Amino acid sequence: MELFMRLLLMVLTIFHSTKSLKGDGSLVYDYYKETCPMAEDIVRHNVKAEVYRDPRLAASLLRLHFHDCFVMGCDASVLLDSVEGMTSEKLAIPNMNSLRGFELIDKIKYLLEQECPLTVSCADILALVARDAVVSRGGPTWMVLLGRKDSVESSINGANQFIPAPNSSLETLIDKFKTQGLDIYDLVALSGSHTIGRARCTSFRQRIYETKPEYHYGYDRYRRYTTFRRILRSICPVTGRDQKHAPLDFETPTKFDNHYYVNILEGNGLLGSDNVLISQDHEGVITEQVWAYASNQKLFFDSFAKSMIKMGNINVLTGNEGQIRRHCRFVNT
Ligand code: HEM
Ligand SMILES: *[C@@H]1O[C@H](CO)[C@@H](O)[C@H](O)[C@H]1NC(C)=O
Repeated sequence: MELFMRLLLMVLTIFHSTKSLKGDGSLVYDYYKETCPMAEDIVRHNVKAEVYRDPRLAASLLRLHFHDCFVMGCDASVLLDSVEGMTSEKLAIPNMNSLRGFELIDKIKYLLEQECPLTVSCADILALVARDAVVSRGGPTWMVLLGRKDSVESSINGANQFIPAPNSSLETLIDKFKTQGLDIYDLVALSGSHTIGRARCTSFRQRIYETKPEYHYGYDRYRRYTTFRRILRSICPVTGRDQKHAPLDFETPTKFDNHYYVNILEGNGLLGSDNVLISQDHEGVITEQVWAYASNQKLFFDSFAKSMIKMGNINVLTGNEGQIRRHCRFVNT
């Protein structure tokens, strides 16, 4: 027994040390303090200017970071274009005709390359941009941990497999977050992102035409949803108009606030994945958290910031791992 424990310890130590040889493991706040002190200002300024012209872009930029982190970690794999032998994640089902904001990322990267060449990673740009996008719509701020490196590959299969679908069951959502090291509290807080931005008809059609009656959620809730659904059906017919879109938060669509939680309590979440947080929550734990956020915006903001930092840490490449891409769409040659 003792021998076994010693062996186990040895194996663990070796595993641990090879791991720390690859990267230095953790991110820090002042990573670019010496090498590119203007980095955060450049990002902030450009996000602010572009979001002013196109308010929805804030939502699109926040979503980019999420779709990056859930596929092989926050390594900017989502930004790579297709090359021979490697298909872009941009063509995966959750991303195609849906992800936006790549041009602004390119612009910011270009400006940062002029200011300090080969210094600021595309993965860090995505993390900073996501924070600044949230702030630009009135949401919370937080310090962004930095020092991520960029991947040298993309994974379209990973994107299809790991990014949750809008018709996922609650169980599946919990599972997909768990795979990333995120718990149900992160799931509920991060779903609050759907307080801004829009979804295409293809993303919510199934929900608004499903026949399952919702009487058992209470008459008031059912009646409100019926009205909401009538409006959505006029935007999104049974077939066609796939690319037409509707706001995820129909009350305050461009404001980052806690209204998302009020909506889902009323049965008016746009996506199936929003609705199931309440309708399939048999234990009541999630519903309790939704009530807490719906009645206390500060609590939501604090939890959201914490969960964003946690998401931003998923499988990051550090130290000698990966590279700093010169252009976010291509691996350096
Ligand atoms: C819980 C699982 C989630 C599912 C199933 C989901 C699904 C979706 C879908 C289907 C859309 C609409 C896409 C379209 O029709 O073009 C969307 C939009 C969006 N999602 Fe999520 N999402 C989830 C979690 C998240 C998280 C964790 C974040 C951010 C941290 C996020 C941020 C956004 C934003 C901001 C938009 C609007 C994008 C825009 O207007 O361009 N979502 N999501
Ligand atoms: C979810 O939507 C996809 C794509 O539209 C479909 O293939 C799948 O059957 C749906 N799953 C469920 C559980 O409804």
